[in-house]
Amino acid sequence: MKILIIGSGGREHALAWKISQSPLVKKLYAAPGNPGIAQVAECLPIAANEIGKIKEFALSEKIDLTVVGPEQPLVSGIVDEFRKAGLKIFGPTKAAAELEGSKVFTRELLKRFGISSPSFKVVASLDEAMKYLTKVSMPIVLKADGLASGKGVTVCEHKDIALDVVTRIMKDKIFGDSGNKVVIEEFLSGQEVSVLSLTDGKTIAVLEPARDYKRLMDDNKGPNTGGMGAYSPVKFVTPKMMDKIVGEIIVPTVHAMHSSSRPYQGVLYAGLMVSPAGIKVLEYNVRFGDPETQPLMMRLKSDIVPLLMAVVEQKLDRIKPIEWHNEPAVCVVMTSKGYPASPRTGDEITGQLANRPTGQTKDFQVFHAGTALKDEKVVTSGGRVLGITARAKDFASARQKAYDAVKQISFDGAFYRTDIAKNI
Ligand code: AMP
Ligand code: GLY
Repeated sequence: MKILIIGSGGREHALAWKISQSPLVKKLYAAPGNPGIAQVAECLPIAANEIGKIKEFALSEKIDLTVVGPEQPLVSGIVDEFRKAGLKIFGPTKAAAELEGSKVFTRELLKRFGISSPSFKVVASLDEAMKYLTKVSMPIVLKADGLASGKGVTVCEHKDIALDVVTRIMKDKIFGDSGNKVVIEEFLSGQEVSVLSLTDGKTIAVLEPARDYKRLMDDNKGPNTGGMGAYSPVKFVTPKMMDKIVGEIIVPTVHAMHSSSRPYQGVLYAGLMVSPAGIKVLEYNVRFGDPETQPLMMRLKSDIVPLLMAVVEQKLDRIKPIEWHNEPAVCVVMTSKGYPASPRTGDEITGQLANRPTGQTKDFQVFHAGTALKDEKVVTSGGRVLGITARAKDFASARQKAYDAVKQISFDGAFYRTDIAKNI
């Protein structure tokens, strides 16, 4: 088979790494990929949002399966375009991708189908937002309706902050049209978990739970980021709790999408809060999580290619149960100077591990996220630079293995959390 992966982050490197191990794969391409992905795939000079060019390439190369990493091409309708051209592609249609593309759509859908969520109010003008915010008690969570590169959510402790944030979203348009509507929702406390499922719209194959670290600094301090690290499995998610999550949240959501004429095919990522008031949906994403995918791919024992293909061909019911390594996996993300506000790029990355696959094994990988080649040197090219991922007999050993490697990689301004998978 010829497979094409779209995207250039750590998630795509982890997917490419796993896919490249399948005996079914003859040739793997990435658009655009990164220097890490180039270790296992041929990288093409086509950006992830150049849907027309990607489709042309897939047609001319007779690609058997395209796997979409990031949300933007999904929300823009890449799956619909590929299907029209008779090409196989893993991911939801534009209509189904609304689950991530519109927070208003998702909140209203979950409410209509009685799926456990925080209470919320949708506002469509600054005036309406101001009026509501003056009477509601804090803390509160503000969410721009549309995509905002992971920056659209703010937890507000005080009213003046909420008023300031909503003004920037709705008047100053910091997220453009994504801020035409805003969801103001109840703040939930508890423990977060990411539950990803593969579904062909009829059958659901739930993956092992994972957890990511959203805040920049140790002890969950500092601003929200795309994710500073992740691990799997998650001990507090008992089999009983997992049954509840699947039975009361995942299955009803897939049904809700079906009854709303937006049948869902692809990976469905539920961001959940296990709160004293129960398990509630914080968000849905319509793609694999980043960095959750890094530990998940390292723990996945089954060949991923038949799974992805079964989703696309709606044959998931014929697939054997997914097999996992029992050993836990931990991913520590190294970020560039200035992340997340204004990441600096162009810093040279040194250390054998970062540049060559030396020392990398099936249970230890340096996944590239924001890296580029410049004058034959690997340099930083984004906020999240590398995701050092290790699997071992227990969490302490996996942590040790990942952090030992982190210490052997350097670049100016490198930063990482020191508490990923600590005390869990
Ligand atoms: P989202 O993109 O909707 O998942 O939001 C990003 C992050 O904001 C989540 O992972 C949570 O840490 C936090 N968050 C979102 N919604 C809520 C909520 N209702 N209560 C508390 N924290 C939230
Ligand atoms: N790790 C959070 C996300 O993928 O959205």
